[in-house]
Amino acid sequence: MATINQLMTMFLSLIFLLHIAYVASSDLRPGFYSKTCPQAEFIVRYVMKNALIMEPRSLASVMRFQFHDCFVNGCDASMLLDDTPTMLGEKLALSNINSLRSFEVIDEVKEALENECPGIVSCADIIIMASRDAVALTGGPNWDVKLGRLDSLIAYQEDSNNIMPSPRANASALINLFQNYNLSVKDLVSLSGSHSIGKARCFSIMFRLYNQSGTGKPDPAIDPYYRKELNKLCPIDVDQNVTGNLDATPLVFDNQYFKDLVAGRGFLNSDQTLFTFHQTRKFVELYSRNQSQFFEAFVEGMLKMGDLQSGRPGEVRKNCRVVNAPPTSSSYS
Ligand code: HEM
Ligand SMILES: *[C@@H]1O[C@H](CO)[C@@H](O)[C@H](O)[C@H]1NC(C)=O
Ligand SMILES: *[C@@H]1O[C@H](CO)[C@@H](O)[C@H](O)[C@H]1NC(C)=O
Ligand SMILES: *[C@@H]1O[C@H](CO)[C@@H](O)[C@H](O)[C@H]1NC(C)=O
Ligand SMILES: *[C@@H]1O[C@H](CO)[C@@H](O)[C@H](O)[C@H]1NC(C)=O
Ligand SMILES: *[C@@H]1O[C@H](CO)[C@@H](O)[C@H](O)[C@H]1NC(C)=O
Repeated sequence: MATINQLMTMFLSLIFLLHIAYVASSDLRPGFYSKTCPQAEFIVRYVMKNALIMEPRSLASVMRFQFHDCFVNGCDASMLLDDTPTMLGEKLALSNINSLRSFEVIDEVKEALENECPGIVSCADIIIMASRDAVALTGGPNWDVKLGRLDSLIAYQEDSNNIMPSPRANASALINLFQNYNLSVKDLVSLSGSHSIGKARCFSIMFRLYNQSGTGKPDPAIDPYYRKELNKLCPIDVDQNVTGNLDATPLVFDNQYFKDLVAGRGFLNSDQTLFTFHQTRKFVELYSRNQSQFFEAFVEGMLKMGDLQSGRPGEVRKNCRVVNAPPTSSSYS
């Protein structure tokens, strides 16, 4: 049983919390930091350029963060929190463990921003800017991002487990998932075009190579020559951390991904299914023929995905991996 004193302390903490944490549902707008940190976007772009030189793949890895952050209770950098003794982070969630990578690039961006304007730029906004820069720096479109997000006070491992899609998913399950966020079939296909850059593990395709839907056979949608390549990359006894390219030009953001899907050369089941299913195929065909249409739709999808907000309390973290230190009890007096 809590004593009156304990209850009182909890009550005061709550009141205090409400004073320091803003509500993480604000109007996002371009140029949010133009007065408070005018160099912010320049600094993010600069660090991303260095990351491109240090390890080209890291841009894809960072770009993926926007999806894994925004789909789990809004774009609030909840995904960047490390585990603590009392809170499970999202880094070990089903779709993220042994898979999400390049967190150190975000740390570098944050450090550079804290040096320039401490306590101003949220980690949630860093993910949005860095994802845009990853696309622009690898040959894709460039666009204005809306900013002004806050960072979550907690992580949501279980929500991530329940929400993030499996590489086994088919187009109809993906359409339903995206619909929960008011993202259209067109958004689903264009955003999947993010797989124009980066790599994935054999772990993510073993089932479709050797036992699609429990049939004991490979996915019939795979082009036979491509299947030979995949079987060589990922033999049945492979170290499943071995990686393969998500499309034929994994360092260039272009519409090659869609050309590959049309040719039955999609890496993941969730990729190839976009061509197999009737509702998504017409967009795959369109983007495979017209890269500008893809780029335009992709930007639209990224903006919509970036608008997802939880409305829960937030703060501007000093270190993207941990929430800011709570006030000590002496703060009351
Ligand atoms: C439509 C549903 C999606 C599914 C099922 C899916 C699934 C996956 C999987 C399984 C991997 C490889 C993981 C591994 O083997 O370790 C991957 C990689 C990747 N995903 Fe997705 N994804 C989806 C949508 C998206 C979206 C919307 C984005 C970003 C806008 C995105 C960006 C990426 C990138 C860039 C990579 C490569 C990362 C790297 O090289 O480190 N994905 N995705
Ligand atoms: C797609 O996947 C869902 C969920 O796994 C499954 O229930 C459904 O039967 C699949 N649809 C088709 C047409 O394969
Ligand atoms: C989707 O749109 C509906 C209707 O406008 C709205 O009520 C709902 O909150 C939106 N959902 C999301 C996740 O934005
Ligand atoms: C294929 O999957 C099914 C259902 O999950 C399973 O019963 C079967 O044993 C698997 N076959 C092989 C060869 O792994
Ligand atoms: C991949 O590597 C990690 C860490 O090195 C290991 O824990 C994991 O079991 C490996 N995953 C697979 C599928 O082999
Ligand atoms: C691609 O679509 C754009 C409209 O976004 C159009 O202006 C252009 O002519 C198309 N290009 C090709 C090669 O069809």
